[in-house]
Amino acid sequence: MCGIIGVVGSTDALPILLEGLERLEYRGYDSAGVALHTADGTWRARTASGTESVTALVAQCASAPPKTASGIGHTRWATHGAPGEHNAHPHVDCSGDVALIHNGIIENHHELAAQLTARGHVFTSVTDTEVLAHRIEEFLRDGLDLEAAVRATLNEVRGAFAIAVIRASEPDVIVAARRVSPLIIGTAEGQTFLASDVPAILDRADRFFVVDDDQICVLTPSGYRATDLSGAPTELTELVVDWDLEAAQKGGYDSFMIKEMHEQPDAIRATLLDRVHQGNIVFDELRITDEQLRQVDKVTLVACGSSYHTAMVAKYAIEQWARVSVEVDIASEFRYRNPVVDSTSLVIGVSQSGETIDTITALREAKSRGAMVVAVSNIVDSSMAREADAVLYTRAGLEICVVATKTVLAQIVALEMLALRLAQLRGTLSPSRIEELLGRLHEIPVLVEKTLASDDAVAVVVDQVKDTHDFFFLGRNVGYPTALEGALKLKEITYVHAEGYPAGELKHGPLALIEPGVVVIAMITNDELKEKLFANLAEVKSRGATVIAVAHENDADVAAVADFVLWVPATESLLSPLVDMVALQQFAYHLAHARGLNVDRPRNLAKTVTVE
Ligand code: AGP
Repeated sequence: MCGIIGVVGSTDALPILLEGLERLEYRGYDSAGVALHTADGTWRARTASGTESVTALVAQCASAPPKTASGIGHTRWATHGAPGEHNAHPHVDCSGDVALIHNGIIENHHELAAQLTARGHVFTSVTDTEVLAHRIEEFLRDGLDLEAAVRATLNEVRGAFAIAVIRASEPDVIVAARRVSPLIIGTAEGQTFLASDVPAILDRADRFFVVDDDQICVLTPSGYRATDLSGAPTELTELVVDWDLEAAQKGGYDSFMIKEMHEQPDAIRATLLDRVHQGNIVFDELRITDEQLRQVDKVTLVACGSSYHTAMVAKYAIEQWARVSVEVDIASEFRYRNPVVDSTSLVIGVSQSGETIDTITALREAKSRGAMVVAVSNIVDSSMAREADAVLYTRAGLEICVVATKTVLAQIVALEMLALRLAQLRGTLSPSRIEELLGRLHEIPVLVEKTLASDDAVAVVVDQVKDTHDFFFLGRNVGYPTALEGALKLKEITYVHAEGYPAGELKHGPLALIEPGVVVIAMITNDELKEKLFANLAEVKSRGATVIAVAHENDADVAAVADFVLWVPATESLLSPLVDMVALQQFAYHLAHARGLNVDRPRNLAKTVTVE
């Protein structure tokens, strides 16, 4: 997730770009850069100073040419190519005529780069983006104008992009386009802007327009013109923006939590992008050979909090699909229990921040015992990513809310892809079954969107139980970590007593706590275990508890056991946490709301826990 900005027709473009980049830093800050249209060609500045990249860029821009009317800027969240100045945007073609910024992932960049290199192009970065600049250069050489060259290039590209392209010889023109990654255009008298997000240009533009998938826009000082990939004219949808800066940073939502919940479909899409090549699952950044992965005879996952729950989901998936034995441990426990791991063990640390001290020290412990150590991190170049032998990145974008939502789903997707890769290498699933499961995974973003759309129905259920003080979450198989995650979300933002249990375990003790006034929330999205769960629910109902089921749409049997239902779309049972957890996030969010609590500022908690 990167941030992009551009302006044409201003009296002084640079301050607009730099202020916009500061406001877009939440989308990434591994490196930053700008390119300006000047009378003498394109002027470019790029820095890579981690969290200080934009500040460093401002300093570097002290040597910028006098006021210019237009330019583009970028703040980077590295996916392909490590953070570093040579990988910072804008990227240029061989001649330096074209400069380009990009947010997204070009899936077929390997094959395009090979063709371009064979035709003599010289690459100066290891990003997926640079291929675009060189391919546009070729079309320009063939006589196309910038708009046509961008269109021809995008017709060859697979993946996600929001791009903005300038060319020294076509001043006061920016060509921008989008597929999947967000892009908006803003207009004001004599100036036109583009940005990844409204806050970047909130007080610059008077009107805002959303660019849709596969729309190409030519921006000039007098406005914009939009076409589709075939060149036919299209319209952009106007976005009514009556927000102040704080509301704009939350995308118009009332909290970062709900905003980030709505970013989940895109977080999943981004995490899935570029991972399947000709049927093979590949992780470019995972520096472990297929042979090493084949030889693994035990996997240990270590993590804390929500990341521990995603590790638990991974255990079910890896054991079921790859038939490797998996242990999951709370990182702070693993570290001090003299764990049995050696050079045949694969130890995976799961952490959105990559900075949680318990997980870092657990990985150090595993490494000191000779294990192969992998970090699953949402932050590129985090401490864990640097210290591990290999890394697998989730691509959820920066998560601001203390309560993890989109990073949780992205972790499950990344870990389940890894489970499928292990199965592929070990031959434990047939190619057709792997293809089917990959298809199912790619359907998840739409199912999450459907679940998010049932928000009002969740609020109605919450209203019925909003004064409850005791909640028990029950599930079996992956429904169990889902139950734990539902209980954790509730604890974090509503401060009520909530516990997650494997449903079969209830009768071994906790059943003593069930009485009228207690609410039991049950995951009934695994068809094979449904009857067992129904039996558990009969036990709690007969002791007076109110039952809320998370169940598949059209499951007629559920009415017999549940007082209320949170309906979710059906999917493969091992993928069901990706949908069920969304319903539980909504439940926690609405309960917090009903109690007048600020979900973005849960008491006593910090986003990243760097103390033991
Ligand atoms: C979840 O909502 C939390 N705030 C917390 O449990 C978190 O998952 C945990 O601290 C682990 O963080 P990490 O993923 O950054 O390591």
